Amino acid sequence: MIKKCLFPVAGYGTRFLPATKAMPKEVLPILDKPLVQYGVEEAFAAGLTDIGFVTGRGKRAIEDHFDMSYELEHQIAGTGKERQLAGIRELIERCSFSYTRQIHMRGLGDAILKGRTVIGDEPFGVVLADDLCLGTDDGRGPGVLQQMVGLYRQFRCSIVAVEEVPAEEAHKYGVIAGEALSDTLIRVTDMVEKPPKGTAPSNLAIIGRYILTPDIFEILENTEPGKNGELQITDALLTQAGQGCVIAYKFAGRRFDCGSVEGFVEATNFFYQLKYGG
Ligand code: UTP
Repeated sequence: MIKKCLFPVAGYGTRFLPATKAMPKEVLPILDKPLVQYGVEEAFAAGLTDIGFVTGRGKRAIEDHFDMSYELEHQIAGTGKERQLAGIRELIERCSFSYTRQIHMRGLGDAILKGRTVIGDEPFGVVLADDLCLGTDDGRGPGVLQQMVGLYRQFRCSIVAVEEVPAEEAHKYGVIAGEALSDTLIRVTDMVEKPPKGTAPSNLAIIGRYILTPDIFEILENTEPGKNGELQITDALLTQAGQGCVIAYKFAGRRFDCGSVEGFVEATNFFYQLKYGG
């Protein structure tokens, strides 16, 4: 039912300079696989096969990654190395990829609004590839996006994935508050982007997985720039929550913040153990 998934990948990734000077942070690998491929695999597993990227300057490597490399294919044909390309080949064959550009880095809300041309008038997923998510500790259970698609079927409204974070970390995130519907579901009534220290309405931080209903575009069009002068998806979601319903979901599994060096190293160690550990 939900077929489309938007990947805003226009950010500069300044926390990884100089690595990200000429290379998108989304193609930095965790072991042998670029971050963005983990994200597309999660979308694919959730049945979202129309993949839309909101890109920016210097992001060509993402396009090339989701395309055939005939020379390379020819070079490794018939060798054991073909196996290493099986995963990306499946994505290339079974998904479609569209690209649009965000010209000015005016925030995640602006990047999502730029995706309107590739999404149109239907509900869609959003994945921030620098949040690397596993639905279960061994990665075998349903992914976070798949869990959220199930919830969308039930609620038919926007869903945001949230995670409990230590109080001293809350100022780095969009933070929600609301009415608990169950142990894992909250009907959102408040949402603040990067609240000043000590002012967060809860310890529930929004992470990089969303299901959005298409009215979000109209709301974004009419939302003023917020924190840091950027168009914030958090502000638009709060409006949407006021007009109808937004559900926050404490997802099952774990998340690595690969947009930070610490989270990136943590993910690398974790996946190394998962793949090669005893
Ligand atoms: P981040 O806040 O992690 O920003 O954006 P960043 O620029 O990528 O990284 P740093 O902080 O400079 O190291 C969260 C996500 O939103 C996208 C980014 O690509 C990332 O996936 N984004 C953010 C955009 O696409 N456009 C924007 O204007 C802002």
